[in-house]
Amino acid sequence: MSEHVKVVDHPLVQHKLTLMRQKGTPTAGFRQLLREISQLLAYEVTRDLAMTTKRIETPMEPMDAPTLDGKKLALISILRAGNGLLDGVLELIPSARVGFVGLYRDEETLQPVQYYFKVPEAMEDRLVIAVDPMLATGNSSVAAIDLLKGAGAKDIIFMCLLAAPEGVARMKEAHPDVPIVTAAIDEKLNENGYIVPGLGDAGDRMFGTK
Ligand code: URA
Repeated sequence: MSEHVKVVDHPLVQHKLTLMRQKGTPTAGFRQLLREISQLLAYEVTRDLAMTTKRIETPMEPMDAPTLDGKKLALISILRAGNGLLDGVLELIPSARVGFVGLYRDEETLQPVQYYFKVPEAMEDRLVIAVDPMLATGNSSVAAIDLLKGAGAKDIIFMCLLAAPEGVARMKEAHPDVPIVTAAIDEKLNENGYIVPGLGDAGDRMFGTK
């Protein structure tokens, strides 16, 4: 991916995101919309996957048909909200291996605290797609990418739903080699580290907690 940040401004993505932002959107609808958007974002994230051809036979005649070159993929969900993006992407790429990074945000310091880390083997050979809906301060995202690089990952794309300019800047500073794919970059963070106008707490909204 050539740009550091790619905003997917496709009309379907933007329409669905607006529905998600609305506070009256119920949990089930929010989750379904996130799943749908995750697949549209995955379309962009996987745009540069290496291709090859294989000889096949159609009912008409043989042909050399395009097929994925088979670079191994790892989808990494940054818990817990990352799971809302994971399932949709996995549906499109069912053979991808899956890992989890458990980080929660200390609400006072806004710093990430790790509680779980489990990723597939041979991370150095894989395209790693890390998913987390909200790139807010960037602290958790930077920490998650630090951990993935520590596990050997070299080729990483970060996919999120919404980003704050502060989070994008923090990621660019810490991990300029990791492109970000997002549906929107909002105005700013508020004093509690939430994205505004944003959509509130993505985890609470998708799981119905609060
Ligand atoms: N995490 C969220 O779920 N929402 C925000 O606005 C910021 C971080």
